[in-house]
Formats: sequence, C-alpha cells, structure tokens
Amino acid sequence: MARQAHKVAAPVIPDLAVPEAAREFAFSDADFRNLVQLAREHAGIALSDSKRNLVYTRVSRRLRALGFTAFRQYRDYLAKNSGELESFINAISTNLTKFFRESHHFDHFRSHVVQPFLNGSLRSDGRLRVWSAGCSTGEEPYTIAAVLRHEMPSTSRHDIRILATDIDTDVLAKGARGVYPVSGFDNVPRIYRDYFEPTGERDDSLMAKESIRSLIAFRRLNLMDPWPFRGKFDAIFCRNVMIYFDNPTKTALIDRFIQSIKPGGFLYIGHSESFHGTHAELQLVGRTTYRRKA
Ligand SMILES: C[S@@+](CC[C@H](N)C(=O)[O-])C[C@H]1O[C@@H](n2cnc3c(N)ncnc32)[C@H](O)[C@@H]1O
Repeated sequence: MARQAHKVAAPVIPDLAVPEAAREFAFSDADFRNLVQLAREHAGIALSDSKRNLVYTRVSRRLRALGFTAFRQYRDYLAKNSGELESFINAISTNLTKFFRESHHFDHFRSHVVQPFLNGSLRSDGRLRVWSAGCSTGEEPYTIAAVLRHEMPSTSRHDIRILATDIDTDVLAKGARGVYPVSGFDNVPRIYRDYFEPTGERDDSLMAKESIRSLIAFRRLNLMDPWPFRGKFDAIFCRNVMIYFDNPTKTALIDRFIQSIKPGGFLYIGHSESFHGTHAELQLVGRTTYRRKA
C-alpha cells in the first residue's frame, strides 16, 4: 500500500490553537515532523502543517502522564519503547462519532441488505456479515445491530455477525463496554431505544442489551496492516475514517475493501468523502453509497 508523503486533501481535524508562549512543553519543528512521520508510518494518518497545535495538544497528555518536560524526551521514549506507539496512536486519532450518524445509510442498509436477506432475494450463503471499519467508541456498530435486530427479533435461524474494528484500543474498550450517556441518544429513533437499558449504576447512562451486543465482535485492526480474515462482507461501513488518509492510501484501501465485499454488496463512506482514482467494480447507488457490481 502506498504511504509516501502526499498533500492532505482537506483540513478535516479541528485545530486547537495553543499560542507558543503558553505552551507547557518544549515543542520544536523537528518534534512535529517526527510525530507526523510516525502517524503516517503506523496508522496511515496524514497530518498537514496546520495540525501542529492539534498534535501538540493531543500528545501533551502523554508527556504529562509520563512526567516529561519536552517533546524531545517523549520522542526518545517512543523510540525505545515500542509499547508507547499504541498510546501515541490512541492520542492522535480523532474519534468523533454518534448513533445513527448519517441515518440515510441505515435506511438503505435495512431496505437493500437486511430485508432482502430475510426474504431470500439477497444472493447469500445464509450468512449476513457486516464490517464497521473504524468503529470508534461503538455507536456505529450498535446502530447497525439495532437495525438488524429490529428486523429479525429471533436469531436462532440466522447467522449474523458484525465485525467492529479500530486502531485505537481506548475507543474499542468503550465500545466493548457498550455504556453511553443518555444525551447521546437524542438521535436514536424510539423503536431502537429499547435495545438499551439503564446500567443500574448511574442513572444518566444506558447500556446496550445482550440482544444487540451479542451480534458484535470488537477487534483491534490497523487498516494499513494485512487483514486477518478471508470471508467477504455483505456491507462495509467505513465512514469518516479515510478523510485522515492521503489519496493514494485511500485508493489502495478502497481496492482492498472491494475485494472484501460480496458481489452485489455495499460500501458506505462518510458524507465528506469521495473517491479519487477509478474503482470500476463500484457503482454509486445513493448518497455516499456504493455497490460492488455483481
Ligand atoms: C471519526 S472516527 C469515525 C467513527 C465512525 N465510523 C463514524 O463515522 O461515526 C474515525 C476512526 O478511525 C480510526 N482510525 C484512524 N486510522 C485508522 C487506521 N489506520 N486503522 C483503523 N482505524 C483507524 C480512528 O481511531 C477513529 O476511531
């Protein structure tokens, strides 16, 4: 996969300005360039010059936790402790998400994947497989699970699985826990709220019920690495993830997604994302919705 230096397509990560004089830690150009290089090398994340303050702000918490006073010390530590790379990537990744984000995708998924699967018109091997690639804290895979479960309350006859992956181990732990503040449910239509229940611990949180939880497997996966599965998916959701990659990385990733989608299956991408390069096997069939030709 191509990972050379390329210009970032669009400034997509909000930058938080920390004036240089107000900085708690010494942070040089060389520090910034070194961290940008590591983010690209290990996560495919492309950070333009305008992300200097973002890098400073996000990585500062690692320096604080480790008791360093300068980024130079942190770079040395990173170089000698490969385990820190995980915390660095966790700190640098942008995890913004919500339930039923871009809800038109879930309408399409229900009518073009789930219902055809149930009425037998979907060419299928009796299994329904969905991948939430870059699932962040889990709102996306739980949304998929709630839509699925609502259409098929009894699972006994159906072999359904949702794979939810992310590079960031902190967000994956939150997803696996499946507990969210009540305020996050504003977007969730009433019919789907029943799949969440009070935790019993804090009255301002709701927890995913077993009926949807059991459909999802959370796993760490760096999309830049080889993928440890061979089976193909009926639908892949990779939304608001590729905005952080440069065009060659994105193009190569989409080619890999195509190989992982069953013919006739769907790829859902984020609202601000578009395809550069040609992907002849994909057909645009709706708003940021693509179908692999059968
Ligand atoms: C903005 S969130 C999108 C969450 C969800 N898909 C949505 O649209 O609401 C982007 C996620 O992509 C993940 N990510 C970034 N680079 C990645 C990579 N190389 N491999 C896997 N996940 C990655 C981040 O950790 C983050 O959780």
